[in-house]
Amino acid sequence: MPPTGQMRSIILDVDTGIDDAWALVYAAQSPILNLMGVTTVFGNADLDRTTRNTLAVLDLLHRETPVFRGADRPLIRPWGGPVPEYHGHNGLGDAPVPGPKRRSEPLDAAHYIRAAVRKHPGEVTLVMVARLTNLARALLYDPGLAPLIERVVLMGGAAFCPGNVTPVAEANIWGDPEAADLIFQSNIPITMVGLDVTMQAPFTKDQLERLDPNRPYASLLRQATAFYMAAYELGNPSIQGWCPLHDPLAVAVAEDPSLVKTQRYPVRVETHGRWTDGMTVVDARQPHQGCIEVATQLDGPRFLRTFHQRIGVMSS
Ligand code: RIB
Ligand code: CA
Repeated sequence: MPPTGQMRSIILDVDTGIDDAWALVYAAQSPILNLMGVTTVFGNADLDRTTRNTLAVLDLLHRETPVFRGADRPLIRPWGGPVPEYHGHNGLGDAPVPGPKRRSEPLDAAHYIRAAVRKHPGEVTLVMVARLTNLARALLYDPGLAPLIERVVLMGGAAFCPGNVTPVAEANIWGDPEAADLIFQSNIPITMVGLDVTMQAPFTKDQLERLDPNRPYASLLRQATAFYMAAYELGNPSIQGWCPLHDPLAVAVAEDPSLVKTQRYPVRVETHGRWTDGMTVVDARQPHQGCIEVATQLDGPRFLRTFHQRIGVMSS
């Protein structure tokens, strides 16, 4: 990975999604990240919605970053459906989403990832904050692609903590375990930003209330995030008055890897488990093996300081 502070080119893969929307805001306003393109996938909502939401958020940011539609279902299994209880029926907490001013590009996301990496070998970091289906499809089309990818930074998995869909599985991995396992076996250098660290990145109601109303996305994302916080409160007695910042943290780690401590471990994804489907099985007996850096600790205060500055949380 380029040293901390050096410019890096990323493709951001999203299922927008409330925390994906914050990831887009964080990435688009980064002084270090060159956001080459955004790819969309099913997940928090169906593909049409996640694509429309992505375009709408980029419009609000006045960005013309190209957006590429990707997979509308997992590689092999049927799609389990959207997640309205956390992301609303429209993927953005049922807040009114302005109609996008432009369309997505004609090229499919997997083909775009392939073309961009082939054009800039060794230079593109893929920041994946959704199901890993688009990248898996790119590798299936072009098995020679893996060594040309600089790194994958992904929000997904639960190494040494509970899952959030099942006792052991995190949503992005659980939503397409075959795709995830294919990526984990690909020998691409991976940074796994899982629930171990994203649950240590709280955004509070008080901070949300102090979001600068002059930011062009403030009205949409205040309403959407209030929905997300209420959903977390309802579903998790231990989470009251805040929500985790899963997806923006993965972008932040791509921008500044020193935000997390990592340890290399072999990781596989369970694809046949009766109770454990989608589990990220980390072989803690073999530290320093393989090419998957598992994030285990977060410098929370430093991440949150940058997040607040970047999105425009006014001081109290
Ligand atoms: O488990 C959290 C992840 O699942 C986030 O990426 C969220 O947007 C959903 O896709
Ligand atoms: Ca997501």
